[in-house]
Amino acid sequence: MKKFIKEINFKLLSCVFAGLLLFVLLCVSILSILLTSKTEQSPIAKKVSADSVYASSEEQIDINNFLNTDIALSLQPNTSGFKLEYTAVPNRTEYEIYRKIKGEKGFTLIGTTQKNKYIDKTVITGNIYIYKVRAVIKQKEGQLEGEFSNKVKKKYVWFDKNKKMVALTFDDGPGKYTNKILKCLDKYDAHATFFVLGCQVKDFKSAVKKEDLIGCEIGSHTYDHLNLTVLSKKGIKNQVNKTDKLIKSLIGHKATLLRPPYGAVNSTVKKVIKKPIVTWDVDTRDWATKSASKTYDNIIKSVSDGDIILMHDIYSSTKNAVLKIIPALKKKGYQLVTVSELAEYKGIKLKNGEVYREIN
Ligand code: NI
Repeated sequence: MKKFIKEINFKLLSCVFAGLLLFVLLCVSILSILLTSKTEQSPIAKKVSADSVYASSEEQIDINNFLNTDIALSLQPNTSGFKLEYTAVPNRTEYEIYRKIKGEKGFTLIGTTQKNKYIDKTVITGNIYIYKVRAVIKQKEGQLEGEFSNKVKKKYVWFDKNKKMVALTFDDGPGKYTNKILKCLDKYDAHATFFVLGCQVKDFKSAVKKEDLIGCEIGSHTYDHLNLTVLSKKGIKNQVNKTDKLIKSLIGHKATLLRPPYGAVNSTVKKVIKKPIVTWDVDTRDWATKSASKTYDNIIKSVSDGDIILMHDIYSSTKNAVLKIIPALKKKGYQLVTVSELAEYKGIKLKNGEVYREIN
């Protein structure tokens, strides 16, 4: 009987011991996971509280202003990389720029700056980058960290400004063929500009987001495709603002350019529209012929450097033409860029209210 009790005690003890060992191992692994997942923390920065910053600052700065400013971040590609611009935060000592490449787990701190813009020159064509920014107040004791900005996500494509380039543009969409066109653009690292109609955007929201993600440009083609030259100032503004609001809700900023329906512009339109106005110099007449081969031919026989080519992403024939024209233009040495990229690479600053039919 004694031996039996001894055996039980021994078994009980070894169970407790094994249990404790497991518990300790579990704690250690949870702790190490927690520590390694904190990649968002700058390795040198010691976080301090608002109170300690307030108490130690000589001028008794208003910390609330710093803490309550939301940072809106936007992203534009340029000749040297991605240009980030963000809200200026009062009392910050610097901004921290965080980035991750699509597929990576955590964000990495890639740089700090005192300006409210930053150019990331370390981007590579074909990668999709995600950015976020925060403001910090740095002091001897450590740093006070503000909230992160919105995240922005975009594919980077580098273009050679010394080589030929054209801007494919699509009006009246998005529509049911837009996604096929986007897939083809993405495959060839090509960009295009989509002059969207507000009334169409409602039904194809994901297409607009995809356009933005792969680096295409979203311009406005008004809300209802009305001839702006017969509208009042208020009517023109209404058509543009309604569409801008919708676009901003999807991609975080308004349409960059305007293409007036029918290309119709007068002095009132130019004055009221606070955007560069873009028409075209190559008309594929895709809407009239509804022929993929004629649309293709109309581009191939007249294309030259700096052209702005007009198409409509709402016809099956146009989609079929695009699937052929993208590789064909690339083979001829053309780079396919957005209208704003065309201007940027050609060194031309687009002005609000001015009309551009080609950029050379
Ligand atoms: Ni149109």
